[in-house]
Amino acid sequence: MTPAMLEKARRAAKEAGFDNVTFRQGFGEELPVDDGWADVVISNGVLNLMPDKTAGLQEMARVLKPDGRLQLGDILVQKEVPLDVKQDIELWSG
Ligand SMILES: C[S@@+](CC[C@H](N)C(=O)[O-])C[C@H]1O[C@@H](n2cnc3c(N)ncnc32)[C@H](O)[C@@H]1O
Repeated sequence: MTPAMLEKARRAAKEAGFDNVTFRQGFGEELPVDDGWADVVISNGVLNLMPDKTAGLQEMARVLKPDGRLQLGDILVQKEVPLDVKQDIELWSG
């Protein structure tokens, strides 16, 4: 997340009148929230970009409440993707 993205998100929330929303800048591998803080953790195309996915998943588990929920919308593969497939955007986007 760049500073510009953070500013845009804060401005959009303010314009929409959302006073129960905050934004914190950080990395998925080191989330800037306390243990057991979150009811829900969502990754929509973020976990799959983290170089250290184990650290990312450990952080998600750390910050979730005991009965919290994890929702992932990420592309995961179990074998090497051929280069020609990686380079064909039509195969990766809807
Ligand atoms: C494909 S975009 C998805 C963004 C958003 N979820 C959406 O649906 O529009 C991936 C985002 O993950 C962020 N990202 C990549 N690696 C990250 C990391 N290690 N920790 C936190 N965010 C990361 C990027 O900055 C980018 O904003």
